[in-house]
Amino acid sequence: MKIAPSILSADFGALAHDVARVEAGGADQLHVDVMDGRFVPNITIGPPVVEAIRKRTRLPLDVHLMIVEPERYLADFVRAGADMVTVHAEACPHLQRTLTQIRELGARAGVALNPATSPDALQYVLDDLDLVLVMSVNPGFGGQQFIASAYSKVRHVRILLAARPVEVSVDGGVKVEHAGPLAEHGASVLVAGSAIFGAPDPAGAIKAMRQAAAAGRTPGAEAPGSMAL
Ligand code: DX5
Ligand code: ZN
Repeated sequence: MKIAPSILSADFGALAHDVARVEAGGADQLHVDVMDGRFVPNITIGPPVVEAIRKRTRLPLDVHLMIVEPERYLADFVRAGADMVTVHAEACPHLQRTLTQIRELGARAGVALNPATSPDALQYVLDDLDLVLVMSVNPGFGGQQFIASAYSKVRHVRILLAARPVEVSVDGGVKVEHAGPLAEHGASVLVAGSAIFGAPDPAGAIKAMRQAAAAGRTPGAEAPGSMAL
């Protein structure tokens, strides 16, 4: 299981310090939330901040675009240092084209699904993506409560993907107690903001999440909703 701290919950006035802390603490990648005040109610950061982070870390940057018309900004974010660029299915009428553009720019292409969006939205782009981001909150803010329908959605996405080597990431309200069941359902990346940066010991929180995910995979472990699809 990969752990991706979301810098939305970091201290923006001490971003380099907070990034260094989770990198030293064993984070596998950094999740960067870009919001435009249109697709979601909130506004966060743009390419210059991604560029600044790129200079301060060796971790892969996973840029989550919660913006309308994301195709207009793909090149800017890849140029700024994004390794993975994730767009929302709900924001992309020409999703296949947008994913192809991300790959042509040299980044890995991801699709995010809001809680109300069916995984069927992925059906005809399964060979055009490298990452599926299952939202377990309605995007826009950190610190919201995990929506449990994400468990069965992760499983559904894994079934659709079959043997394709695609990451299934879960984002929103993820805490240590969700890590085991999410692993059990087929998640391969956990994004967490407040559970990591809000913890007194972010490195300890990363470790606890990874351990809980590993334990969740052991036979007989609790897996709420594991039979539901
Ligand atoms: C929500 C963002 C998430 C958020 C997660 O719109 O996409 O990445 O930062 O933060 P927590 O883990 O606090 O819900
Ligand atoms: Zn996110």
